[in-house]
Amino acid sequence: MRKCRNQESAADHIPPGSRGLPFVGETLQFMAAINSGKGFYDFVLIRRLRYGNCFRTNIFGETHVFVSSTESAKAILNNESGKFTKRYIKSIAELVGHQSLLCASHQHHKLLRGRLSNLFSMPSLSLFIKQFDQLVVDNLSSWEHKTTVLVLDEALEITCKAMCKMLMSIESGYKLEVLQKEVARVCKAMLALPLRVPGTRFYKGLQARKRIMSIIDKEISERRRRRRLGAEYHEDFLERLLAEDDKGICYEAANRQMLLDSEIKDNILTMIIAGQDTTASAITWMVKYLDENQEVLHVLRNEQLQLARKTRADTFPTLEDLNDMPYASKVVKESLRMASIVPWFPRLALHD
Ligand code: HEM
Repeated sequence: MRKCRNQESAADHIPPGSRGLPFVGETLQFMAAINSGKGFYDFVLIRRLRYGNCFRTNIFGETHVFVSSTESAKAILNNESGKFTKRYIKSIAELVGHQSLLCASHQHHKLLRGRLSNLFSMPSLSLFIKQFDQLVVDNLSSWEHKTTVLVLDEALEITCKAMCKMLMSIESGYKLEVLQKEVARVCKAMLALPLRVPGTRFYKGLQARKRIMSIIDKEISERRRRRRLGAEYHEDFLERLLAEDDKGICYEAANRQMLLDSEIKDNILTMIIAGQDTTASAITWMVKYLDENQEVLHVLRNEQLQLARKTRADTFPTLEDLNDMPYASKVVKESLRMASIVPWFPRLALHD
């Protein structure tokens, strides 16, 4: 094709890449990379070498442009130009729910975020420090009787319990077991081929979502019943989200403060998934890095022992104690920097 000199064509602004096969695009190659155990790094690496830092592809039925330079990532994520909005792929929305923070439209996202961010205040989080510490201590004491410990599995066990406890005060028993199993199915389905055929990973994920929604539904009804009876409240996120019911704020109002039940349910599931996998993966990487850097482990252990000497053996750490761990805080930050726990943040371009 001939191009006029000094006259840029629209094609000059389209990132290089391949659309792959008709209909499926490059979805199969993307899936093969994910299932290879290395994640989709190989998929990105091969195309980066071929096309450069910015390339386009077609996966899950839509054009995706991958950018991997720091400058482009900053420009897109800061979104000062207002040209992008958060949007995960359609099949993820079907699993976590269309009202989830991960999938909501720009305006809706603002409303949801405003309500949900209140839950993460310092006084609120400080209530959970003791509970999280107890979970870790219980888990570690079970290691004594094990010949092999798979750190990621143990960390997932701790973080799933921590999320279910913080969100809905579910900490043991049948409900927790079901949630653990079903949440794992939803996570597996999130990057599976979106085939609604019985037996596929995606289909199992959708079925698991239905069962999780039913558990949360029952929990909401039970909370409302207890409120009507004036029974003791739970100290968890679900209770605080439902507490808005009591303020009598109009459901229909465009600038409503409270969330609908469907929004609460989608976002409870979103928080379990967003909090569980990320934190477990961060813990696992940190254990690996500490093993590889024994001098860092030594300084970290000394900081902890010094704190332990100051406190009684039967007490749990407080928020002040956490602020008294500058070295531990650096170890966490450096592990997060090195590990890229969330390697891929999709955004929807609002303009070409
Ligand atoms: C080490 C642990 C964690 C890491 C590395 C991490 C990382 C991230 C990142 C990078 C994002 C932005 C994704 C994007 O913009 O597309 C994100 C979003 C989010 N995370 Fe986390 N996260 C962690 C723990 C948690 C926990 C414990 C919770 C819940 C209790 C949580 C809930 C969320 C939610 C709800 C969002 C969506 C926020 C929004 O769209 O406004 N995360 N996380």
